[in-house]
Amino acid sequence: MSVIFPKWMNVLPTVAAVGTLLGGVTVVGGFWYYATPKFYRVGYMPTQPGGGFNHQIHAGKLGMDCRYCHTKIEESAEANIPNVATCYGCHQDGSLTLQSSEPNGPHAKKTQFIREAFAKDATIEWRRIHKLPDYVRNFPHSVHLNAGVSCFSCHGRIDTMPVVFQAEALSMSWCLDCHRDPASALVPKDKVTDLQWVHDQMTLRTSGDPAAKASAEQLVDSLLQAPPQNCGACHY
Ligand code: HEC
Ligand code: HEC
Ligand code: HEC
Ligand code: HEC
Ligand code: HEC
Repeated sequence: MSVIFPKWMNVLPTVAAVGTLLGGVTVVGGFWYYATPKFYRVGYMPTQPGGGFNHQIHAGKLGMDCRYCHTKIEESAEANIPNVATCYGCHQDGSLTLQSSEPNGPHAKKTQFIREAFAKDATIEWRRIHKLPDYVRNFPHSVHLNAGVSCFSCHGRIDTMPVVFQAEALSMSWCLDCHRDPASALVPKDKVTDLQWVHDQMTLRTSGDPAAKASAEQLVDSLLQAPPQNCGACHY
């Protein structure tokens, strides 16, 4: 039999394999790096402009419903951030006060940035905290809320946060863990924004409280549909 391939060509498969491997590592590594910048991570808490916005005071102490400000959340995919006029409605002057604080005291200075923005017809440049990468389809808030998934499951105890931070990983496996077995996350639809109630209910469920378990099972029967696990549901 004649020699068709010279001997030096024996190393080619090895070279090709190493090359493919390195190329693969570079692609995966690069993708990983760019797809997961640090600011998508748990605990991310940027400093907000002006006096900031305190959910613990407004949603916690004052008991304002999330939908007072995030108005469109049950009808649209997007969770809207309120405009300056919403804040100005209460903070027209510095006299607004809780019983515990002085009229025109330190809070008046803290809310000055609202009146300044309103007078200039400017927007407040809130810094975004939760953000999925661009290769993930538009995340649908309305679908989740209407299925009985509370803000609590994805954003944690916002009503106790003086400054919002990211409480959950928002990774693909985090989405899929719930999509495979959503039953334990479901609450009645009229409770999705009542984070204290949801928190107490979840604590009862994990401690094995029979009444809480029974109500959770009822919810599964009445609410549960099938959350998607196919790639196309979340990716283009
Ligand atoms: C009085 C208005 C108001 C109320 C009530 C309110 N929010 Fe907000 N929310 C804001 C503003 C303003 C921001 C942007 C500034 C910031 O991130 O702190 C925001 C930001 C957020 C963010 C972070 C958005 C991002 O950038 O990722 C989440 C999550 C959130 N709110 C959830 C809630 C939940 C849950 C409730 C109810 C328990 C609630 N909010 C009640 C005004 C409000
Ligand atoms: C329904 C009325 C209401 C609305 C709407 C409202 N606030 Fe307030 N806010 C209050 C009250 C009441 C306080 C407590 C004031 C005090 O204790 O002196 C307060 C306090 C504050 C403070 C000072 C708290 C601190 O950190 O010590 C800031 C800053 C503030 N609000 C920003 C905002 C912004 C920004 C918005 C719009 C996204 C907004 N508020 C919407 C009622 C409101
Ligand atoms: C099933 C999980 C889930 C639930 C439930 C949920 N969120 Fe979100 N939220 C997210 C994710 C994921 C993002 C980032 C979306 C993106 O980047 O497109 C987000 C983003 C936000 C933002 C920032 C939007 C922006 O454009 O700046 C706000 C505000 C917000 N959520 C408020 C709420 C409120 C209020 C509730 C409850 C009434 C709620 N979310 C319920 C997962 C959830
Ligand atoms: C805590 C539970 C939970 C988490 C976390 C969660 N989901 Fe869901 N999701 C659901 C449930 C329940 C449904 C089913 C809604 C229905 O069929 O009525 C759903 C439905 C959906 C749908 C289908 C929407 C439609 O039009 O039918 C998409 C897309 C989706 N989720 C994306 C995501 C993404 C992306 C994440 C992660 C960033 C995520 N979900 C995290 C519970 C969750
Ligand atoms: C329920 C929604 C959902 C489904 C279904 C889903 N993904 Fe994802 N995927 C995500 C989210 C959200 C991210 C972003 C994760 C992050 O930011 O870390 C992601 C990230 C990715 C990444 C980037 C690397 C990584 O793991 O973070 C790849 C690749 C990917 N998905 C492929 C797929 C394939 C293939 C399927 C089908 C088998 C699929 N996805 C199904 C939500 C989903």
